[in-house]
Amino acid sequence: MLRSSLLLASRSATIRRFVEHNPLTQRVVGRFVAGTGVDDALNTAAELVHSGLRVSLGHLGEDITEVAQVSTTVQAYESVLEALAEAGLAAAVEVSVKLSALGQSLRSDGERVATDAAYRICRAAGTAGTTVTLDMEDHTTVDSTLGILRTLRADFPWVGAVLQSYLRRTETDCAELAAEGTRVRLCKGAYQEPESVAFRSKNAVDHSYVRCLRTLMASSAYPMIATHDPRMIAIAGTLAAEHGRGPDEYEFQMLHGVRPDEHLRLARAGHTVRVYVPYGDDWYPYFMRRLAERPANVGFFLRSVTTR
Ligand code: FDA
Repeated sequence: MLRSSLLLASRSATIRRFVEHNPLTQRVVGRFVAGTGVDDALNTAAELVHSGLRVSLGHLGEDITEVAQVSTTVQAYESVLEALAEAGLAAAVEVSVKLSALGQSLRSDGERVATDAAYRICRAAGTAGTTVTLDMEDHTTVDSTLGILRTLRADFPWVGAVLQSYLRRTETDCAELAAEGTRVRLCKGAYQEPESVAFRSKNAVDHSYVRCLRTLMASSAYPMIATHDPRMIAIAGTLAAEHGRGPDEYEFQMLHGVRPDEHLRLARAGHTVRVYVPYGDDWYPYFMRRLAERPANVGFFLRSVTTR
């Protein structure tokens, strides 16, 4: 109920204005978001890399409505990729990209616009010496995103994609991407989806997650286990050992600001751990999805905006 309300609020312009213009919100947002500029992103990434972690930087923004916004987003990625290479961080820091920020849902030719833009980002990533992972948005975008992934992989075989275990279709998608040897970031899913396409109970979502993990671990794909769930983390560790995978043959991934002690614990135990670090101005929908994930985050947020 609370999750649904927060996910609905993530698309409300009125609530957005209230949250964005509350000066106290910044304190809470700062827990999940690295800052607004390239420097903020780089400083946070460098700090994490120095503590033994890897990073995926995501420039915040989604669901653009004007084609002119596409070039701005591409340029933001080109700048950060160039800066990563100059700072010697590209081996440990990749980028994550939302195709809706590149025009995927524009009425006129959106898919082609997004493919061309993603191609430019992949070219810049290749030059910098790093990789790109395509985020997954709501279920209506999955076919298009996987289509664009396959187009990009023809020239950039290291492009990865996200699959969401709450979607009923994901086991099939996972088997296909596993057979193709793709880098797959497996998460549970963060959007408001109808029951016709998504499992509703935590139990069903978790079972689907484990089935997908089994498929990925048994394949030539590179599994990226994106979860904070201790049970999923333990099962993934066991499956990786059963399949004889070394620490460079899969990785754990978590969000910046969520269970930071666990990031370090896993890294110190010898696992590869990557932290997803968002940065940029357009933090509202990302932030609301983080609140929706965990009621404790809402309490933390309310305490921060009502007390000094
Ligand atoms: P879940 O939310 O089910 O929590 C399970 C358990 O994990 C909790 O009971 C608790 O023990 C622990 N836990 C979770 N959050 C915690 C917290 N804040 N503090 C302490 N413990 C906590 N989604 C999407 O739809 N598209 C995408 O592209 C991505 N990309 C993405 C990248 C990466 C790197 C990550 C980690 C996640 C995503 N997601 C995503 C988000 C994902 O779908 C999901 O919403 C969140 O990861 C939360 O789900 P969990 O798997 O963590 O478990």
